[in-house]
Amino acid sequence: MKILVVGNGGREHALTWKLSTDSTKPEMFCAPGNAGTQEIATNLAIKADEIDKLVSWAMKNKPDLTVIGPEVPLCLGLTDELEAIGLKVFGPSKDAAELEGSKVFSKEVMEAAGIPTAASKSFSDYDNALKYAETAKIPCVVKAEGLAAGKGVIICETKTELLDAIKLTMLEKAFGAAGNRMLIEDFLEGEEASILALVDGENILMLASSQDHKRIFDNDQGPNTGGMGAYSPAPIVTDDLWPIIKEDVYQKTLDELKRRGITYKGVLYAGLMIDKNKTPYVLEFNCRFGDPETQVVLPRIEGDLLPAFMACAEGSKLTDDIIKWKDEHAVCVVMASGGYPGDYQKGKVIEGIKSAENDKSTVFQAGTKRVDGKIITDGGRVLVVSSLGKDLPDAINNAYSSIKNISFEGAFYRKDIGSKGLKRNA
Ligand SMILES: Nc1ncnc2c1ncn2[C@@H]1O[C@H](COP(=O)(O)OP(=O)(O)O)[C@@H](O)[C@H]1O
Ligand SMILES: [Mg+2]
Repeated sequence: MKILVVGNGGREHALTWKLSTDSTKPEMFCAPGNAGTQEIATNLAIKADEIDKLVSWAMKNKPDLTVIGPEVPLCLGLTDELEAIGLKVFGPSKDAAELEGSKVFSKEVMEAAGIPTAASKSFSDYDNALKYAETAKIPCVVKAEGLAAGKGVIICETKTELLDAIKLTMLEKAFGAAGNRMLIEDFLEGEEASILALVDGENILMLASSQDHKRIFDNDQGPNTGGMGAYSPAPIVTDDLWPIIKEDVYQKTLDELKRRGITYKGVLYAGLMIDKNKTPYVLEFNCRFGDPETQVVLPRIEGDLLPAFMACAEGSKLTDDIIKWKDEHAVCVVMASGGYPGDYQKGKVIEGIKSAENDKSTVFQAGTKRVDGKIITDGGRVLVVSSLGKDLPDAINNAYSSIKNISFEGAFYRKDIGSKGLKRNA
C-alpha cells in the first residue's frame, strides 16, 4: 500500500503520522512535506501546487491513495487529474472544491439550500459596492471571494472601516484576483466552532468538534493568524446540535450540490457561528481538513483512519462505525516564529522536540526543515504540540508541560489555549 500526502504543514504531518500507523503498514510519501514528515515518509521535491509534476509522479509510482491536504491543489483540480488516470483520491473535485474556492458560489449554494448563514450581497463592481455601503448595516463583514490564505475577511465596525475594506479589496487588490468579487455580509454574534465531516459522495460521517484560536495573542487579542491552537471536543457543540448540523448544514449542502450536478467527496469543513438561540450559522465551508483542528481531531481516533479515507475515495462505503473514538480530550498549541503573523526570521535551530514527546503528547511539525542533521525553523507557524488528556484541563496541562521542552530563538506561543472551553464547562 502506497499513500501520497500532498502538502507541507502541521496538518499534513498529522495526516501522514496517522496514516503511517495503519495496520496495513503503508509506504508513505509527502509532497513536499517537512522535517517532521521526513522521519516517517519519503519527502518528494514537489510543491503542493505543482499539479503537472504531481500527476507525472503519480502516473509513474501509482499510489493506492492520494490524500490532498491544502485547498490550493484541490481548487486547481488535482483530484480530477489523478482520477482521470485511474487513481484513488481523498479530496473533492475542482467543482466541489468551489465551496471553499469561491465564497460567492458557497453563499449561493447555502441560500438556495436554505442553510442558516449571514445575509449578504455580492459585488463585482467597486462603485456598486460603495453605493451599497451607504445604507449597509454596521457592523458588517467584507469577504474577498477567492482564496486569500485566511487574510481576505475584514470585520468592519464603522462605515469608514467598511469603505476602507471595499477599497482595499476591490481597488487596491490587496488579495489579488481573490478580490475581483466580494461579499458584504451581516455580522453574526455567537461562539465559533469547527466541524469536520467525511463525505463519500452519498453518506456523511461527522468527526469530532473542535475550536480554533485565530488571534495571535492571549484572550483573542491582536491580528488573525493561520491558527494558534485548538482543542477538541468543543463543548459549545452540545449533543442536541449534532443532528441539526448533519441535516441543516451537511445534508442540505450535498443535496443542493447534487441538484447542480456536483458530487462531494472528501472532508467538508464547516466553520460555524453558534448564536444564543443555539442556531448553527455557517460562516464558511472549507474543502479540506483544518490546520490546527486536524492536530487535535486525529489523535483522538482509536485505530485505523485509512478505511474511512478509502471509503470516501471509492464512493458510498462510509459506515457510522468505521471510525472509533478514544474517550479523551485533545489540546494543541502552536509554537510560532517571533514576529508572526508579520515579518519573521527563518533558520533558527529548534531544540527539544524529542523530549516534548511522550505517550500523551506528539509534536507535529509545520514550518521546519532539516539542514546538516539539525531541524531549523522555516515558516511562521513552526510546530504544534498536541496532547491528549482524560478531560480538557488534563489535556491543557499535558500540552503546556510538553511544549516547555522545546525552544528556538524568538519562539512564541499562546498561554490560554482551551480556556474558552473551561469557562463553558464551569
Ligand atoms: N458574518 C460574520 N459575522 C461575524 N464574524 C465573522 C463573519 N464571517 C466571518 N467572521 C469572522 O472572520 C473569520 C474568518 O472568516 P471566514 O469566513 O472563516 O473566512 P476565512 O477563513 O477564509 O478567512 C471567522 O473565523 C470569524 O471569526
Ligand atoms: Mg475560516
